[in-house]
Amino acid sequence: MALSLFTKTKKAIVERAHDDYATKMRLKYKPYYHTMEAQQGTHIRLQGKDMVMLSSNDYLGLSFHPKVIEACGKGAKIWGSSTTGARISNGSRAFHTELEEKLAAFLGREACHISVAGYVSCVSAIATFAQKGDLILADKNLHSCLWDGVRLSMATAERFSHNNPEDLRQIMKDVPSKAAKMLVVEGVYSMEGHICRMAELAQISEDAGCFMVVDDAHGFGVLGRQGRGTVDHFKLNDKVDILCGSMSKSLASTGGFVSGSRELIDYLRTNSKQTLFSAAIAPSQAAAASASLDIMQSEPQHLERLWKNTKIYRDMLKGLGLDTWESETPAVPIVLGSKELVYRFWQALLEKGVFTVMSIAPAVPPGKDLIRTAVSALHSEEDFAKIADAMAYAVRQM
Ligand SMILES: Cc1ncc(COP(=O)(O)O)c(C=O)c1O
Repeated sequence: MALSLFTKTKKAIVERAHDDYATKMRLKYKPYYHTMEAQQGTHIRLQGKDMVMLSSNDYLGLSFHPKVIEACGKGAKIWGSSTTGARISNGSRAFHTELEEKLAAFLGREACHISVAGYVSCVSAIATFAQKGDLILADKNLHSCLWDGVRLSMATAERFSHNNPEDLRQIMKDVPSKAAKMLVVEGVYSMEGHICRMAELAQISEDAGCFMVVDDAHGFGVLGRQGRGTVDHFKLNDKVDILCGSMSKSLASTGGFVSGSRELIDYLRTNSKQTLFSAAIAPSQAAAASASLDIMQSEPQHLERLWKNTKIYRDMLKGLGLDTWESETPAVPIVLGSKELVYRFWQALLEKGVFTVMSIAPAVPPGKDLIRTAVSALHSEEDFAKIADAMAYAVRQM
């Protein structure tokens, strides 16, 4: 008894962190959390070496656009560095509502609500509207934030196979017609680069009386008129109840948005814990997103260049016989099928000055371990020459 007073037992949670195998492997092989020393457009410096960035989500290449940088600085100068408060209490400012109105108008929606991260917005797009007793029909390859939204809602989730309307139709046959239902899909799947088969899925959703939520983090800025996104691309605005997304990709900022009818967004503003109890997006970040949105509408060359570059890049990978999982967008995976191959390929690219990101199971389905790459409008001919050389080298190392 006396001894136990002096023997300190380790806290179970500290022990769990200490023993975690995945963390040990990450620290040993250092595949993630690389700290870049400098960046200029698509060029970064890592451990003193110049590299081409081939995995950022700066699809339109606006993060170094002079107007965006100027707006960012001006935002902080006028409004300070932060509003240090939640929107519902002391954190709401004119620049928030201006951006929300501008985004809503661009998307053809009545209203929009912005938050500090796409992750937060997408969680709230589900967790606010679905509740215990409801049924959520979810594409099995949804992003982690959408699964978090599903879990938080406490609704029952039913997964259908990825981008497969036939499977959804089958599942719908056994669903009680009276249950409140929600369908959740992504406009463009971030790992796969697949465009959602939205026309068929939206029709099934409508026939079954489903509330439809689309996360268009990777379709916004990329598809549709002037980059209005996947819903606009398919002309399905009237079939989608909630359209959410991120401002950290094509809008070259950070933050997220949820858009829909005024009634739904007002309901979200009253009921979403993610906005009620979290500080508002900072002035400089809202200003950057706002400037990017203006550029998307006044400078079409970025979107044109993005698709031109995407074609160049996809043809290059095809020529090397690489499996791109039939990606249709600038988010292009290179599927290698095992974590060992992915690691070797990634290292070979790094050696040749091309920075990419590894994605291995369980982040992707088993057997789909991949290198995640993404094209930007900013990639130049010289960048592609370097990328082609590195890809050919990595293929030879396999
Ligand atoms: C499909 C999807 N939704 C939401 C998010 C979250 O966006 P953010 O990085 O702005 O939090 C991401 C981020 O990668 C994403 O890929």
